[in-house]
Amino acid sequence: MELKLILVLLLLLLAVGATADYVRPPPRKTLSFPWSKKPSSLPQQVHISLAGDKHMRIMWVTNDKNSPSIVEYGKSPNNYSFSSEGESTRYSYLLYSSGKIHHAVIGPLEDDTTYFYRCGGEGPEFQLKTPPSQFPITFAVAGDLGQTGWTKSTLDHIDQCKYDVHMLPGDLSYADYIQRRWDTFGELVQPLASARPWMVTQGNHEKEHIPFLEDSFVSYNSRWKMPYEESASSSNLYYSFEVAGVHVIMLGSYTDYDEYSDQYAWLKADLSKVDRKRTPWLIVLFHVPWYNSNEAHQGEGDNMKTAMEPLLYAAGVDIVFAGHVHAYERSSRVYNGKSDPCGAVHITIGDGGNREGLARKYKEPKPEWSVFREASFGHGELKIVNSTHAFWSWHRNDDDEPVRSDQFWITSLFGSSCCAENGPELRKMLLEP
Ligand SMILES: [Fe+2]
Repeated sequence: MELKLILVLLLLLLAVGATADYVRPPPRKTLSFPWSKKPSSLPQQVHISLAGDKHMRIMWVTNDKNSPSIVEYGKSPNNYSFSSEGESTRYSYLLYSSGKIHHAVIGPLEDDTTYFYRCGGEGPEFQLKTPPSQFPITFAVAGDLGQTGWTKSTLDHIDQCKYDVHMLPGDLSYADYIQRRWDTFGELVQPLASARPWMVTQGNHEKEHIPFLEDSFVSYNSRWKMPYEESASSSNLYYSFEVAGVHVIMLGSYTDYDEYSDQYAWLKADLSKVDRKRTPWLIVLFHVPWYNSNEAHQGEGDNMKTAMEPLLYAAGVDIVFAGHVHAYERSSRVYNGKSDPCGAVHITIGDGGNREGLARKYKEPKPEWSVFREASFGHGELKIVNSTHAFWSWHRNDDDEPVRSDQFWITSLFGSSCCAENGPELRKMLLEP
């Protein structure tokens, strides 16, 4: 045991050293979470996500190993007409053992409807609202959250906005091997994540790989199960979902993506199922940006871009969201390093508020594809109004007030000559073995 502890400390020191490659300005303090005695069967860290058509997955943690994985729910308070039994998991990581992590899928649910629910047969009642089945639909977007004073500010602002689904392009808790921080993060986001579906993909801070001791993504995969089985993926690290008229693809920057990989084959299969008549909007999220004019993390997304950008281009992807760089940047429609009317708009939004602070240094001169860039914490809102028009706004956390700092209208590539012209190329690429 002693040898294990020394090995762990040594590897932690190495890991911290390896990530400190540039100096960021001072961030806000990590929030403190005072310990309070709660009944061990009390549901904690409740969060929800979309789980296939008209279904929602509810996740929560109890310290009690005997607590049942049951969700009771209905359309009026304290009146549960339905119940669903799920399953549970646990994991160990170094010297930490998790509580019982419950997953239960509920549904079929009505669209755009408030449901009241209770987890494990006891504890407080929660409320969720299902997304609408048609436009308009609004997404809140913020990556690289962490759990600092800035995170709290970002979450407060998102809470003020009327949105249907939260999308997070990686780096959730910044637990960084300290597993207790996954629990405090779960508590911090519960008020929002128990009320609207949170659709997340992984970042480098989810990896938590320790050679010879711990595999990658142990905690992330146990706690944040996404609908990968529902979207015919073999991995929780990449999946897709459809909501209203939007097809969203979540990719993994930290798993294989070359043309011989499972992820690449799955992406081709998923794109072949997209019907732009049913889902006129096509959106992709992953962690490491492909278009980034910040000095931070420069060039890190290049290999994935080389492998996958031709597929996304041929498919006519409208918007790509990424995180990782702790700042905000929006590109023009771009492809292969140049503005291109048939490429996607790339938005880096890794500015949720983590403890590492902002990435302030930009490359000069500004590349021609970079439309707006600023190193501030904040969040974004994407309101898809109809099959052709959407309004994007980025809200800076300025002195704790959400200030709208960037905004633009975007038109979908659906029905444009881009989709028509690239159709044969896409079909050829999708048919390639
Ligand atoms: Fe990151």
